[in-house]
Amino acid sequence: MGVAILSGQAVTLVCGLLSLYMLRTIATYAKLRQFRGPSWTGISNWPHSMAMLRGNCHEWYAEPGPIARVAPRVLITSSPEVWMHVNNKPGYKRSDWYYTAVRIEHRRDNVFSQTDNAKHERRRKQMAPGYSGRENPHLEESVDERLHDFLNLIRSKYVSSDHRVVPMDLAKKVQYFTLDVISSVGLGTAFGMLQRDEDVDDYLQSSEEGLAIANTALAMGFSWIAQAPFIGRFIAPSPKDNNGFGKMMAACFRLVDERAASSADEQSDMLASFMRHGLAGDELRSEALEQIIAGSDTTAGAIRGILLHLMTNPRVYLRLQREIDDAVRRDRAPSTGGGLISAAQARQLPYLQAVIREALRVWPPVVNIFPRDVPTGGDTLVVDGESVFLPGGVCIGYSAYAMHQSEQIYGKDAKAFRPERWLKSDPALLDVMVRTNDLIFGHGKFQCLGKAVAQIEIGKTVFELLRNFDLALITPTRPWDARNYLGLFAISDMWVQVMERTPCSP
Ligand code: HEM
Repeated sequence: MGVAILSGQAVTLVCGLLSLYMLRTIATYAKLRQFRGPSWTGISNWPHSMAMLRGNCHEWYAEPGPIARVAPRVLITSSPEVWMHVNNKPGYKRSDWYYTAVRIEHRRDNVFSQTDNAKHERRRKQMAPGYSGRENPHLEESVDERLHDFLNLIRSKYVSSDHRVVPMDLAKKVQYFTLDVISSVGLGTAFGMLQRDEDVDDYLQSSEEGLAIANTALAMGFSWIAQAPFIGRFIAPSPKDNNGFGKMMAACFRLVDERAASSADEQSDMLASFMRHGLAGDELRSEALEQIIAGSDTTAGAIRGILLHLMTNPRVYLRLQREIDDAVRRDRAPSTGGGLISAAQARQLPYLQAVIREALRVWPPVVNIFPRDVPTGGDTLVVDGESVFLPGGVCIGYSAYAMHQSEQIYGKDAKAFRPERWLKSDPALLDVMVRTNDLIFGHGKFQCLGKAVAQIEIGKTVFELLRNFDLALITPTRPWDARNYLGLFAISDMWVQVMERTPCSP
């Protein structure tokens, strides 16, 4: 009898909870019912989670329409105007569910993961001068040193001939380059990957593993565990670990501590600038670590994407090589063997710049959703001439693929790689294209702090690789292996054949 009563109470409880759950689901669904999106996303987070686990979120986000729903409380936009509005308007803030999951350390934020607008603004002000190059006059010099290492590595070990192919994994070497650059300009000491031609201290492997774990944790809804009091510290990576991500943290922190300890730090680089602007101790360490993560996969993805599109478009490849050779002949770049092209000279080469914009457009290297919470009282926007209300309690992020391959902006061939569109479009359209393309580096108060560094690296590297070598894919049917982890691409197995080249005749 007692058991029967108890189970009766249990049934009532379960039914009550189920009804509450259903009511909540219906209320959430109703809030955003005017927005379309992939099936079941109005009532369940699972379709979004599955897309994250498959590593192809960026393609799954490419929904038609300026605003779409991808989870019960998550919208995405492909409209540049909406995205700029969301990034500019006070009241919107970065969403905790995403940015807390991309924290690197246990319960500690860096400028990228900070969701409190006021704290973010303060930290950004401390860091912007170091990133801008204003307080880092040797920035370009450091990039040049590493680019010399990169060219030397290829020339000494990986040049093929008519008799023998020496396969080179371009994906790996490009990341050695970007990691060496960011450690040089960010920490004052290059990791030395290019000189040793190896993944020193397993940085590459551990950052990829870290991203993969964080991606799975977010998809499965477990991210909070790494941030939970007490147990979190045993789960989040720690510099005390002997392997993986923790080992990488330890090496980075060691370099920072050494620099911080030398009181008469005469260097004028990013770290010195951060210190001058008041960053110290854990804050300084966290930002230095973040810099390595934010500054390596991103730019490596961009350079790999540009080179892949060049290698698979011989017409564009040849035209760019002609522009490069012509620049050398006309003294718009140093002669071959006489130094590297300067960033300022690279910016003056129209076809090179068009190739870079176009490759970043068809294959954006950073495709995070970057969600923002809508202000509590909601917000009304005008989208394509119609008024749209975004209710409070939901968030809106960005679909890189849908925006940058929009037929509305780029026309019917929006998905195709055609750099000429940047040279031949009418000025009004070009203006819209440029403003949209710039969003690849974010916008407003959240815009990428490393944009200038990335642009210096990309322009110089593409110019010098094409000036010096001919690159071809070894397996064109499977050019690389790319997986999207939290919006960054882990790319491997990009095997190429490299040949020395002689400049085209005029
Ligand atoms: C092609 C290369 C790159 C792309 C496409 C890119 C893209 C972005 C984007 C879209 C954001 C905005 C994030 C948001 O809205 O929440 C961002 C932020 C950031 N990026 Fe980059 N990035 C690149 C390279 C770099 C490099 C080389 C560095 C370091 C030297 C860097 C450091 C940062 C930092 C620190 C932030 C956070 C800014 C803030 O929260 O105020 N990025 N990046």
